[in-house]
Amino acid sequence: MQLLPGFRDFYPEDCARRNYTLSIWREVAARYGFLEYDGPVLEPIELYKKKSGGELVGQLFDFVDKGERHVALRPEMTPSLARMVAARERDYKKPLKWFCAPSFFRYEKQQRGRLREFLQLNCDILGDASPAADAELLALVIDTLRAFGLGAQDFVVRLSDRDAWMQFALGKGVAQERLLDFLGVVDKLERLPEAESRRKLAEFGVELEAVRSFIADPSAEAAKLQGILADLKARGLAEFVEVDLTIVRGLAYYTGLVFEVFDRGGKERALAGGGRYDGLLELMSDGKVKMPALGFGMGDVVLANLLEEVPAAKARRDTWLAARRAAEVYVVVAEETRRLEALGVVQALRGAGWRTDYALTAAKVGKQFQAAETLGAQFAVVVGAEWPQLKVKQLATREEHLLSPEGLPETLRTLSLAPTPEPPLT
Ligand code: HAM
Repeated sequence: MQLLPGFRDFYPEDCARRNYTLSIWREVAARYGFLEYDGPVLEPIELYKKKSGGELVGQLFDFVDKGERHVALRPEMTPSLARMVAARERDYKKPLKWFCAPSFFRYEKQQRGRLREFLQLNCDILGDASPAADAELLALVIDTLRAFGLGAQDFVVRLSDRDAWMQFALGKGVAQERLLDFLGVVDKLERLPEAESRRKLAEFGVELEAVRSFIADPSAEAAKLQGILADLKARGLAEFVEVDLTIVRGLAYYTGLVFEVFDRGGKERALAGGGRYDGLLELMSDGKVKMPALGFGMGDVVLANLLEEVPAAKARRDTWLAARRAAEVYVVVAEETRRLEALGVVQALRGAGWRTDYALTAAKVGKQFQAAETLGAQFAVVVGAEWPQLKVKQLATREEHLLSPEGLPETLRTLSLAPTPEPPLT
């Protein structure tokens, strides 16, 4: 039986890496005061047809359920979040700062950086229309990537503005109801052959040259975003952002500021993308709830590719993984006649919180030490000829101690090398 294309098995080493990503995502979001939430994996297909729009609608994993409902696996979080917040808007103080990091599903062609099931960190601020909220969210996306050991030489946040593009298009005579289709063409400009872009733009009566010269001069936009840029500069984050009008985003609901994050090498697809969607809650609540909002989504797939490529980031991840080794203590049953005593030692260690392992069946002492090394254990506790004493070996230094089983968990704590600290922000 083969895996479906675009889906992944998570063997323990893959799970450990996934946990690394999730733990950094959660930790940085918490540092910024964001609260975790979640929603359903399955939603009515209408939610995405009406609210996400763009190419996402063609990428839905959808089916009709046994109750004749046409449903889709969630391809993104934003419409569900808007629904949830609009429904209980009065229960929460504004602004709401919420995050989630579950799995999403898109029926895309499997390629580098794109799968059919992926994790996505979503961070959103709802109920605040100020540029301060824009800057706060941008700082969060930057600090999240920095916490992985990535720096300004590794990634860049490209800022743009849907509003500016709408004005441009209206100025060129693009009809209001065709604006989103027009933005869809601009969104793909870098990915399509020139002749095709030219032909598609001509359908809207717009020349490629006009689009190019609009993109070439972002000075008016930079002036408009000045407040946000000054805010980021005050935080020492100016070098992580640049104004770049090639960004328009593929989803329907964005209204103002939009951005995408790319690797500086330009080898990968976008690491993250987001922006303002000030009209979505109103749309979701039939006009009842008006609430400005903005947010971003960051996928795990492109991020994992980049972590492999940046040595400092890879080293940081590997240090984290090593610190969470499978066992801290390995109890070596040197004499089978002492197995029951050994089990008592194992139980006491585990009860005190030590990650402890041992051989389930008789094995040579050398083999057991090998297992201890493989598991990355700090201590081997030998139950054998020395009983009622224990020979304890610190595997890194080869130092040996003769210790009593009484109070062993506490004694080990005093002998233990300092635990590896969490990686700080660079
Ligand atoms: P998005 O640009 O569609 O935005 O996705 C954000 C990120 O999710 C992408 O930059 C990429 O890293 C990852 N991603 C998307 N599709 C795939 C895929 N098929 N395989 C792997 N990774 C993928 C949104 O989804 C918006 N809802 C984000 C948002 C939140 N806007 C406001 N709040």
